[in-house]
Amino acid sequence: MPTHATRSSVLFVCLGNICRSPTAEAVFRATAERAGHGSRVHVDSAGTGEWHVGNPPDWRAIAHGRRRGYDLAPLRARQVTREDFARFDWILAMDRSNLRELQALEPDGYRGHLGLFLDVAPAIGRREVPDPYDGGADGFELVLDLVEEASRALLARIVPRAG
Ligand code: 4NP
Repeated sequence: MPTHATRSSVLFVCLGNICRSPTAEAVFRATAERAGHGSRVHVDSAGTGEWHVGNPPDWRAIAHGRRRGYDLAPLRARQVTREDFARFDWILAMDRSNLRELQALEPDGYRGHLGLFLDVAPAIGRREVPDPYDGGADGFELVLDLVEEASRALLARIVPRAG
């Protein structure tokens, strides 16, 4: 029975914030909502790069997500900032390069959890969500497969009795 419902905040980070991290944002939000825990989590995404700021997700990420019931179309890219460390309990990078960029921004004494998203789900057997930007449809499907499984694991970590 949810009594002292605390709200967790999660920021997903990739390079451009137009493929992997908006997919993770939409999938994790939907996973929490479908489990009845939408009000327990605040979810956002950002990129380490600035090239796509203000843009919607890549049309391929929107199309592949839509086929599995996720709506990425309203999302807009933004760049991660140092202030995000004051706002998010969980900052989860898609790959090691993203993580290194975040570690360079991390203020001393950050008390949240900064790490690789897939590390919440060791059973997946891989640590990085590969960048699908220069590849084909398979890459976008793999992003969705990995992000769906890791989202279930993350929700179980954040809301231990979920489901
Ligand atoms: P994302 O994919 O980091 O998953 O959003 C990329 C999007 C754009 C670029 C690279 C990766 N780019 O070089 O513009």
